[in-house]
This record gives sequence, C-alpha cells and structure tokens, in this order.
Amino acid sequence: MPQRGRFITLEGGEGVGKTTNLAWIEEWLTARGVEVVRTREPGGTPRAEAIRQLLLDPAGDEPLNDDAELLLVFAARAQHLARCIRPALARGAWVLCDRFTDATFAYQGGGRGIAAARIATLEAFVQQGLEPDLTLLLDMPVAAAQQRLQARLSAGGTGRDRFEQERTDFFEAVRRTYRERAAAAPARFAVIDADAPLEGVQARLAETLEARVAPWLPQ
Ligand SMILES: Nc1ncnc2c1ncn2[C@@H]1O[C@H](COP(=O)(O)OP(=O)(O)OP(=O)(O)O)[C@@H](O)[C@H]1O
Ligand SMILES: [Mg+2]
Repeated sequence: MPQRGRFITLEGGEGVGKTTNLAWIEEWLTARGVEVVRTREPGGTPRAEAIRQLLLDPAGDEPLNDDAELLLVFAARAQHLARCIRPALARGAWVLCDRFTDATFAYQGGGRGIAAARIATLEAFVQQGLEPDLTLLLDMPVAAAQQRLQARLSAGGTGRDRFEQERTDFFEAVRRTYRERAAAAPARFAVIDADAPLEGVQARLAETLEARVAPWLPQ
C-alpha cells in the first residue's frame, strides 16, 4: 500500500489570488517529485461541477434558500470526496484544492449567518474525520481584492457570479471568519499576506512550503 498523499487547501475571499497561486504551488510540488491532483470546490467532478453551476448561477427569479445552498455545497463535496479526493490520496497522490470546508464556514457561516455548529454537523457527516493537512489562507483587505476582481473583469474575465454580487459587509464577514478559523487552528493553517505583488506573495508561499511541506516530501 502506498503512503496516503497529503491534502492541501487554498482559501481566501474572491480575488486574493487562489487560482493564480495554486498553479505555482503545483509546480513547486511537481518539481519535488510529487504527483499532484489539482482540483477545486464547489466542483472537481462532472456532477459536482453541475452543482457548482446551480450555486453560482445569478440568473432566475427564485432566490436560493440558505439551507439549500449549504446542503448543495456539501452534496458537491460528498461527490468530490468519493470520486476524486479520497481515491487520489489513497493511491499516494497529493490533492491541491482551490477552496474546501473552511470556505463553507466563511461564506455560508460568516457571510450568510448559518450557525457554525450546524455546518460542523454536516462536516462530520460528509468528511468522517478527513480534513486538510495544510490550509494556506491568502489574506488581504476586501477593498484591494475587489480592485483585482474589477481588473480581471475589465481584462475580459467572466461576469460576476451569485457570490461576487454580494455586498462589502458580506465579504468583511467572510474575511473575519477565515482569520478566526486560522487563529483557532494554527497547526493546520498558514496565513499568507496576499496584498503584495505576485513575486512577494510567492516568496512567502515558498517560505511556508519549505517550513511546513518539505518535511513531508518523499526522501
Ligand atoms: N499578487 C497579485 N498582485 C496583483 N494581481 C494579482 C495578484 N495575484 C493575483 N492577481 C490577479 O488578480 C486577479 C484575481 O486572482 P485569482 O483569479 O487568482 O483570484 P482568486 O482568489 O482565484 O479569485 P476567485 O475567488 O474569484 O476565484 C487575477 O486577475 C490575477 O491575475
Ligand atoms: Mg479562483
């Protein structure tokens, strides 16, 4: 039996640079001989991506109920875990995931106001004890991240999804919840200041990977 792979998640609000830096982290790991499965939430498998569409689609007159939203997030996660994450970890691959359950606590908990205890119940039900080995939280002020999103939009990126249309206080609550969770679980989290030019962010990521991840690499 191969040794179980490591599970690394990247978190943070919209526009902090998760997707940009995930590719860079994948290169860092691949260069060190690790098989990486890069994936994202909500989504990561065809059916889970179909649920993602339901969650992000801003169209239609029927508002999505908060509990329905929460259950859809965990339905997608159950599918993703069963069909992608668990099999990859079992065969020894490392999983690099753009958002995971911390995002549910931040968005559906902090943002929408669903009690953390209810989310934790679903987390235990769906994950059965599996949690990331390391979570990299890209943190920066909301206004600066919003400017990046605006620039991405002007550069021809996709339009604003259902979450990106929320108001500033929603994103402030998301950021606050992420930071609280990181402070409460320092052994799992590393907080990276993302409000810097890309080279600066990646220098901080490299330091963190050297300190936290290099010891896990196969000899
Ligand atoms: N350090 C940086 N400095 C300036 N611009 C950046 C930096 N990092 C990323 N960007 C740019 O900011 C925009 C948002 O980055 P990215 O798409 O990686 O963020 P994200 O966290 O994945 O956002 P989302 O939550 O919407 O998926 C992109 O246009 C990207 O090129
Ligand atoms: Mg992204």
